Amino acid sequence: MITTTGLTKVYRSGDREVTALDGVDLHVREGEVYGVLGQSGAGKSTLIRCLNLLERPTSGTVTVAGTDLTALAGRGERAGAALRAARSHIGMVFQHFNLLSSRTVQDNVELPLEILKVDRRERSRKALELLDLVGLADKAKAYPAQLSGGQKQRVGIARALAGDPKVLLSDEATSALDPETTRSILQLLRDLNQQLGLTIVLITHEMDVVKTICDSAALMKGGRVVESGTVAGLLATPGSELARELFPVGGEPSGDGRTVVDVTFHGSAATRPVISELSRTYNVDISILGAAMDTVGGKQIGRMRIELPGPFEENVVPIGFLREQGLQVDVADAADTTDAPAGATAPAPTLRKDAAK
Ligand SMILES: Nc1ncnc2c1ncn2[C@@H]1O[C@H](COP(=O)(O)OP(=O)(O)OP(=O)(O)O)[C@@H](O)[C@H]1O
Ligand SMILES: [Mg+2]
Repeated sequence: MITTTGLTKVYRSGDREVTALDGVDLHVREGEVYGVLGQSGAGKSTLIRCLNLLERPTSGTVTVAGTDLTALAGRGERAGAALRAARSHIGMVFQHFNLLSSRTVQDNVELPLEILKVDRRERSRKALELLDLVGLADKAKAYPAQLSGGQKQRVGIARALAGDPKVLLSDEATSALDPETTRSILQLLRDLNQQLGLTIVLITHEMDVVKTICDSAALMKGGRVVESGTVAGLLATPGSELARELFPVGGEPSGDGRTVVDVTFHGSAATRPVISELSRTYNVDISILGAAMDTVGGKQIGRMRIELPGPFEENVVPIGFLREQGLQVDVADAADTTDAPAGATAPAPTLRKDAAK
């Protein structure tokens, strides 16, 4: 549904240059909810603004629903009209709602339809239908100042849907809202995704958002996408940083010379007593440092951080056993777990991607 190739954006101010996007290849499938994560300044907003050409990319292409938007940009009047038409199929929701305070709720929702020169009766019909869809049928005549934050965002979403978009872009739509309101807005987005088959790309700082509603996700750093895929696939990828953040199991190693391992259980493996089997078969004492269970994309997934006695070299066979059971096993780097100075809190072990594959 959305594909970018080599998307690059360089901001120039005076003689300073900032490369906000550095060759991003993104692929969002039709009908999915796609989360974009990353620290402040990673390039998330720039990326999402380039998807509807609110921001003009320096190079690279953006294709939405089969139309190459970058090819339409800046090529005369006819291409300009084609770009406007293509954009009307991409809705956008903002962190601070961006409602016009002098207009009623209904008039805010009608705004994009006015720009598309839809006649008054049809505009009114459409706006009321959308307000009903987002649960605000009784607020049509209210002004934004009379609404709560969550209600304002519902108006923002209704307005974004006015052009019957195939794609909805959302830049931290819930970060100005309290947790409960956040949940209800997320549920609304998920419902719209399922009822209307809407493809949604959302930027978020919250891992919970990804777990609750995203089918796929990408992690950005320094203008690049460093990890991407389905959430279930990422959780099954050894060493995935997103998987670790989605599923922090924590737990400090109890001392030197031990092997710390993160084990991820999928599907039926989640309910088998694999750890006790391992302990019996190889007569090893296993300490469980942390564990978490969750439902991701409707499937149950568990993660556990365990500690085996002895260094990694002595644990090749038990680790092999776990892998034979169909479990994903990531070995934490012993060096990272033992270098902490005395008295300091040991850092969470970082995962060694190449260990014992
Ligand atoms: N209009 C602009 N002019 C110059 N530099 C910009 C502009 N917009 C963004 N940048 C720079 O581009 C980089 C990426 O910014 P962007 O807003 O995309 O980050 P972000 O991931 O959305 O961050 P945040 O989580 O804080 O919203 C940053 O270094 C930022 O300072
Ligand atoms: Mg941003």
